[in-house]
Amino acid sequence: MMKGALTALALILMSSAAFAADTPMLADRHVKAGVKCESCHGSDQTAKGPRTVKKETCLACHGGTYAKLAEKTDSLEVNPHDSHLGEIECTKCHRGHQKPVLECARCHDFSKELHIK
Ligand code: HEC
Ligand code: HEC
Ligand code: HEC
Ligand code: HEC
Repeated sequence: MMKGALTALALILMSSAAFAADTPMLADRHVKAGVKCESCHGSDQTAKGPRTVKKETCLACHGGTYAKLAEKTDSLEVNPHDSHLGEIECTKCHRGHQKPVLECARCHDFSKELHIK
């Protein structure tokens, strides 16, 4: 009963424009910077199922290619955009409306080297 109500509330919160959270998530920071929901999601807001964002969409605004993006983080001790994992989806690490996760952390401890937000 309680769990159902909370799930319903969570769904309402997720689908509203206001993703209230203590730390603004990636999508909110984008909206603040003037990026529209449609720029990540496309114009079809009625599509069913979990919506994700393809790396091509992210790259259209962030350098054009993975290689160009990797240049930006090349001064870091470990480059998260140039590794043996190759050109994986951005959302493996950068989540839209959730806390980010560092995919590398499944196998390495880069907690000193990398700080994803
Ligand atoms: C329509 C253009 C656009 C799209 C699409 C876009 N971004 Fe951005 N992104 C921006 C702008 C503008 C900023 C803020 C200025 C800056 O830091 O470059 C930004 C900032 C960022 C930042 C650094 C600043 C922060 O708040 O963390 C990351 C990381 C990022 N974007 C990742 C992504 C990912 C991942 C995607 C795809 C899921 C994406 N972006 C899609 C335009 C875009
Ligand atoms: C393996 C995890 C991972 C993947 C996959 C990933 N990123 Fe990142 N990204 C990071 C981390 C970690 C940082 C922060 C690096 C730091 O400063 O410690 C970052 C930082 C950034 C920044 C800020 C760069 C700056 O100038 O400081 C942008 C923009 C960004 N990522 C975009 C993308 C886009 C676009 C993709 C997909 C093409 C992507 N990332 C894929 C982990 C990842
Ligand atoms: C920077 C790109 C970006 C922007 C801007 C963005 N989103 Fe998202 N959104 C994502 C990603 C990535 C996902 C996939 C789930 C995740 O990573 O949180 C997603 C998932 C969703 C979902 C599905 C719920 C889920 O977790 O699967 C909804 C609904 C949604 N977004 C609505 C919006 C609305 C409304 C806006 C504008 C206020 C917006 N998004 C802006 C990247 C973005
Ligand atoms: C599924 C497990 C796994 C994941 C996920 C993973 N790695 Fe690795 N990584 C390994 C293994 C295994 C090695 C080789 C053994 C070693 O040297 O530790 C390695 C080696 C490395 C090395 C040193 C060896 C070299 O020559 O490149 C670096 C740097 C590295 N990984 C970075 C990354 C980064 C950055 C990520 C995330 C983008 C990542 N790894 C994700 C398992 C993984």
